[in-house]
Amino acid sequence: MTPDTPVDDARRPLVSGNWKMHHDHIEALHMVRDLGLRLKPDDVASVEVSIHPPFTDLRTVQTLVEGESIPVALGAQHCHDQDRGAFTGEVAPGMLARLGVRYVVVGHSERRQLFGMADEQVASTLRAVLRHGMVPILCVGETQEQRDAGGTEAVLAGQVRAALDGLPVDQIAGLVVAYEPIWAIGTGRAATAVDAEDAAVFVRALVAELAGEDAAASVRVQYGGSVNGENAAELVAEPDVDGLLVGGASLEAAGFLDVVRGVAGCYRS
Ligand code: PGA
Repeated sequence: MTPDTPVDDARRPLVSGNWKMHHDHIEALHMVRDLGLRLKPDDVASVEVSIHPPFTDLRTVQTLVEGESIPVALGAQHCHDQDRGAFTGEVAPGMLARLGVRYVVVGHSERRQLFGMADEQVASTLRAVLRHGMVPILCVGETQEQRDAGGTEAVLAGQVRAALDGLPVDQIAGLVVAYEPIWAIGTGRAATAVDAEDAAVFVRALVAELAGEDAAASVRVQYGGSVNGENAAELVAEPDVDGLLVGGASLEAAGFLDVVRGVAGCYRS
């Protein structure tokens, strides 16, 4: 989509705030209340916003968002791939669904790198999220080393195929895929808009290969990695970048709103 074109509902841009391991439930309460006071109808007229707090905050945030009709979707950062069982320390997808969670980040590079989440587990978690009626945000992206070796496309192809292969076409069509180059996460060094667009186009072509052109046209591709209020508009102005996955800049209401407004400005009809 190009700037100033009417929003195609199937590709409504999604701005997601991934809090990672920040904000206890009291801090979450303050942040979301602040966000609710600042968000104007215009900000969310054409853009969808999701927030992904730690598990312990979800119930608090759910109650606040529902009680005060704050126009943000509830998100989670991860879940287990089984519905129940002896998995000490884990959270089941059904538990998130019961809390009204709509989006679940699946296969974030920190889960892959720090907690050994392999492609097979990413695939099974993605299916578990879908089974419970939620929308996965599938994260893919290369390391600096892989990029330097010219391996970006091979890495993306491997991760996307491993996660989506065999999934029904209608389920693939409703997915969100986040291109998150690992070298850009938390480094202050975002990808250029051109690099983000190239990766998004490549991901979309992979989806077309796996599920056909219609699914590829409706899948939403986010960019993530050092997004802030300054670079948000430029990144989503690219036709294939349908939103942003935001870490550090999503922790404070004002900074997150700058990102949301940067995106909204591009999509205003
Ligand atoms: P960052 O994190 O915006 O702090 O770089 C992005 C992410 O990990 O999703």
